[in-house]
Amino acid sequence: MTSSDQKLRNPIFCAIDTPDLGTATTWAASIGDHVGGIKLGLEFVSAHGPKGVMQVMKASGLPTFLDVKFHDIPNTVAGAVRAIAAVKPYMVNVHASGGRAMMQAAAEAASEAAYEHVVPRPLVIGVTILTSLADDDLAEVGMAASTADQAVRLAVLAKESGLDGVVCSPLEVSRIRAECGPNFKLVTPGVRPEWAAANDQKRIMTPEQAIAEGADYLVVGRPITSADDPSAAAQRIATALAA
Ligand code: C5P
Repeated sequence: MTSSDQKLRNPIFCAIDTPDLGTATTWAASIGDHVGGIKLGLEFVSAHGPKGVMQVMKASGLPTFLDVKFHDIPNTVAGAVRAIAAVKPYMVNVHASGGRAMMQAAAEAASEAAYEHVVPRPLVIGVTILTSLADDDLAEVGMAASTADQAVRLAVLAKESGLDGVVCSPLEVSRIRAECGPNFKLVTPGVRPEWAAANDQKRIMTPEQAIAEGADYLVVGRPITSADDPSAAAQRIATALAA
């Protein structure tokens, strides 16, 4: 059994991006009735560790995506996945560019840890190419492929290595879906309702468009957390998706 067998209220995971524990718990509590899950990333986890993560999870009462982007040798990544699995996340991620053996070790560690803690296995998701990188940036680190081609290549490798899905731009969803099939989970940031500011996200789609393209989970941060009323903003996105 994997955590994806749990029924989510909707596919929205709200990115709780703050290093402040009080702010994180307040946001989590206020949106808990409207989104499907929350996402905590390196900023928060580095500041507050697993204990802080559990406090915010409790405040929201929701499944949690731990966006920790592990990238190291297979043995170390396996150990990190086993350790973080103790907080019972819905989903964790690793960099797909860490390679086949690293991803296989991460997937096996998640299964072992779930068995040990008697919980559903967290989904293990690969990060393909960060959306902050352009083709020139890849060339500079010695990768000749375009960002889109490299993202598809890493998604296929992630699938072959036993991962459950990948994080990708909404604009890459249809290509990766075609290559990796209907059961591979696609998680997309870069999602903006028409009424929200784009902020620093460049390649965006609305929540409705991203789902229509074939995304399984939408990561939405500032359109909710920077709104005057985060609860109302989350509800507005959820209602539009349900229509
Ligand atoms: O506030 P916003 O909706 O832009 O938040 C998006 C979230 O998704 C942030 O936590 C950001 O770090 C994360 N993310 C992203 N692009 C990626 C991977 C993660 O925006 N490629």
